[in-house]
Amino acid sequence: MFDIQNIRAQFPILTQTVNGKPLVYLDNGATSQKPISVLNAWQKYYTEINANVHRGIHTLSQLATEEMEISRKKVQNFINAKNDFEVIFTKGTTEGLNLIAYAMTDLIKENDEIIISYLEHHSNIVPWQLLCERTGAKLKVIPMDVNGVLQLDFLEKNLSEKTKLVSFNQVSNALGVINPIEKIIEITRKNSAALIVVDGAQSVPHFKIDVQQMDCDFFVFSGHKMYAPMGTGILYGKEEILRKIQPFHGGGEMIATCSFEKTTYADLPFKFEAGTPNVGGNIALGAAIDFMANIGHENIQTHENALLEYAQKKLLEIEGLKIYGENAKRTGVVSFNLEGIGIASDVGMILDKLGIAVRTGHHCTQPIMEFFNIAGTVRASFAVYNTFDEIDILAEGVRKAQKMLS
Ligand code: ALA
Repeated sequence: MFDIQNIRAQFPILTQTVNGKPLVYLDNGATSQKPISVLNAWQKYYTEINANVHRGIHTLSQLATEEMEISRKKVQNFINAKNDFEVIFTKGTTEGLNLIAYAMTDLIKENDEIIISYLEHHSNIVPWQLLCERTGAKLKVIPMDVNGVLQLDFLEKNLSEKTKLVSFNQVSNALGVINPIEKIIEITRKNSAALIVVDGAQSVPHFKIDVQQMDCDFFVFSGHKMYAPMGTGILYGKEEILRKIQPFHGGGEMIATCSFEKTTYADLPFKFEAGTPNVGGNIALGAAIDFMANIGHENIQTHENALLEYAQKKLLEIEGLKIYGENAKRTGVVSFNLEGIGIASDVGMILDKLGIAVRTGHHCTQPIMEFFNIAGTVRASFAVYNTFDEIDILAEGVRKAQKMLS
């Protein structure tokens, strides 16, 4: 049974006032708030366990290792990976994408091609540009239409034996557009031997993920957008590929043997986990997965879809308000501007005075903003604890901002 009051009661931060108004937190695309169970897991680690993992024979070290490895298994189940060693702890989506791009360097030659989409966050653009600079490979971009829908005929026409990698997000952070990943993967597999990377940063908080069914080669996401602490993230990779690619960071924990003449690498997943990991954060990520499982993915999705539909309806009642990607299949995000009000942050500042937290600007997606010929948007993004009343408050706030700025 979905009980919104019970869910909200698990988030102490939501009860505070901001600028004298009850907080309406609608910046979940940037980061979600954390439930008590996650905060407790993190605090329990630091108050009762705090020891380094995989290093000590002492009791606390073994306990820390055990707890972190339990969390890895929770992640494995959460995304349905075949093996727990295919789950690599990172500090977030950005690190995951950079890891892949760096680790792939030896597999890419001059004039090879990498395909991404127009809808990407800078973190799914720049690492590939850097890889192209290192290797002489070329970057191609799947265009989108005015609704933010990707033009997949471009993908089909441009895939060839030169294509070494295709990388795209499952959900756009700027617009909330859901990309047809099954279709993209099907087309890519049919027309090339390219590796497929899926950026799940904005999809894991909303959808049930099954990497085996998806048949991607890599899947990356952050913990902090799905109720876990900042500085946590996951890189999933298929075993065969993880074994083939080079490590990203060198250091402790990632070696099997180390001498001045030659170093051999540790087995998976440790080959990609150099240095002391974010043990408390990784354990708390497991608690976030439990939190989501307790509510149930279907309930989360149903509630968030209803919020989005309601938000879209309420906001479109405001004259001169334009939603970007209005007609695309979306989740979790409404990105909009008010006619005649060129600076989204002006709207954001007024909303802030009313206790409403939204993000304004280019959302680390400058190409999308250029496409629409705008500097930025106002973005409201939802999580499972948001309510219909909060959307009414947002719509009212936007009306006020419009009056004040016109
Ligand atoms: N990438 C995060 C966002 O879209 C920070 O807001």
